[in-house]
Amino acid sequence: MSSKKYITTPIYYPNASLHMGHAYTNIVADTIKRFNLLDGKDAVMSTGSDEHGQKIQSKSKEEGESPKAYVDKIVKNFVCLWEKLDISYDFFNRTTSSNHEEFVGNIFTKLQNKGYIYSGTYIGYYCVSCETHYSEEKYLENDKKCSNCGKDLKRIEEESYFLKVSEFNDWVKEYLEKSIDITPENRKKELINNFLNEGLRDLSISRTSVEWGIPVPNSKESTIYVWFDALLNYLSGIQYDIEKKTAKYWDSDTNIVHILGKEITRFHCVYFPIILKMLGARLPDKFIAHGWLITEKGKMSKSLGNIIDPISVIQEYGSDPLRFYFSNNIRFNEDSKFSIDLLKESYNTNLVNLYGNTVSRTFKMIQNLYDGKVPKYYESLVIHSEFKKDIDELFSSYLENFRNDDSIEATKKIIELLRKTSKYIDESKPWTFKEKSNEISTILNLCFQATYLASTMLMPITTRGSQKYFNALDVKTPSLFSDIPLSFDNIQIIDKINLYDRKK
Ligand code: MSP
Repeated sequence: MSSKKYITTPIYYPNASLHMGHAYTNIVADTIKRFNLLDGKDAVMSTGSDEHGQKIQSKSKEEGESPKAYVDKIVKNFVCLWEKLDISYDFFNRTTSSNHEEFVGNIFTKLQNKGYIYSGTYIGYYCVSCETHYSEEKYLENDKKCSNCGKDLKRIEEESYFLKVSEFNDWVKEYLEKSIDITPENRKKELINNFLNEGLRDLSISRTSVEWGIPVPNSKESTIYVWFDALLNYLSGIQYDIEKKTAKYWDSDTNIVHILGKEITRFHCVYFPIILKMLGARLPDKFIAHGWLITEKGKMSKSLGNIIDPISVIQEYGSDPLRFYFSNNIRFNEDSKFSIDLLKESYNTNLVNLYGNTVSRTFKMIQNLYDGKVPKYYESLVIHSEFKKDIDELFSSYLENFRNDDSIEATKKIIELLRKTSKYIDESKPWTFKEKSNEISTILNLCFQATYLASTMLMPITTRGSQKYFNALDVKTPSLFSDIPLSFDNIQIIDKINLYDRKK
């Protein structure tokens, strides 16, 4: 098993503020990263902004600003949102950084020298909003509209450099079929059937009519296609060495996972691996291509006017409810509704009633009978061993799920553990014990163990609430799962606790 983990998110277009859909992707990535840190891995995460291209060029013009001044302003808001959501990224990749621009130029030259790039004339159609090319056939098939965003396609005819991806059609098909993990599985078939079976066409990777881009080396009039530029952020950000073909987080001891929305699977799972193959670089281990957040109007997006602004939701609810909602309610393989009512219901049911109440009931009972000092666990009292076994098993399954990057299944285990704890409290009725005894001591110790374990398991998800839990104890917050104590006897509860307030 690798000792390092590199998790990436797409780099977002700074043509508008980010919405809940972007927040969802980054929360998933951050949650997986935090789990891996607790699990003892050297885990890092990258995110960033995709700042070149026709779309940004036009948008900044509309706003009467230079493209750079415009993106600088918007990118500040990205950083601010990630801070509010506790997104602990290690690399924030801006494609206008000099490091990245130089890197992309060098890769272009490298591939040109290897004979993978040639010049010609591009004739075809283009979606400016998605920065995506369409062939004549696809243009007609899709009723002259972009199949992703539905906007009108524009005809382009201009001199261009092409990347010889067609030579890699069979290779990439085999790569998808045999050696790569794409979650959910059905995206593989979609790519192969809708795209590779027809045969790949060489990709136009430069534009003469777009000024706002990285210049093609040794060319006065061309800039590099924004997707070729953007995909390389995954390498430039971690200082990938083109000659040595490696980086600290791009080597055989790193598990590399890319997280993205399903609409950009083709760029990530077809073009990016081909570019890596051309460079002789190691290939990623996994792509998680998740579904969309939708409302009644369809995919949440600025153009449909149905976006929900995460900042106002965080102001009202805090970040934990959102982070929890995305871990507990949304499966990667489906499009899912998102609304404030659903968020509120998930928050009240799970964080307030289940987690919050179980913790405060447990703390109160220990405070009443044992002055807040966790009483001893008597192993000999086998009557309670079933519950002990349950919580241990749920913890093991949680680890297994999360080690497969399945944060959704892992979260279900936490909920199950809390439900079992709440039921255990109801059935063993600790409040009926008026005197100290080995039995009540064991019951309360077990309840405490369960809340401690649940809080540790929640650490990658509800960053604030779990910290609040540990702050109420006289022991250090665990920074690794291996810090979980073997015995909970005598831990002192030093404070009253109210983890979450109910929302009306
Ligand atoms: N700049 C490209 C990505 C380049 S990565 C090398 C891009 N940017 S984007 O701003 O359009 O962001 C798209 C991504 O944002 C999606 O792939 C997804 O991660 C996230 N989402 C945007 N809207 C979303 C939903 N409605 N639902 C879920 N995720 C969404 O594409």
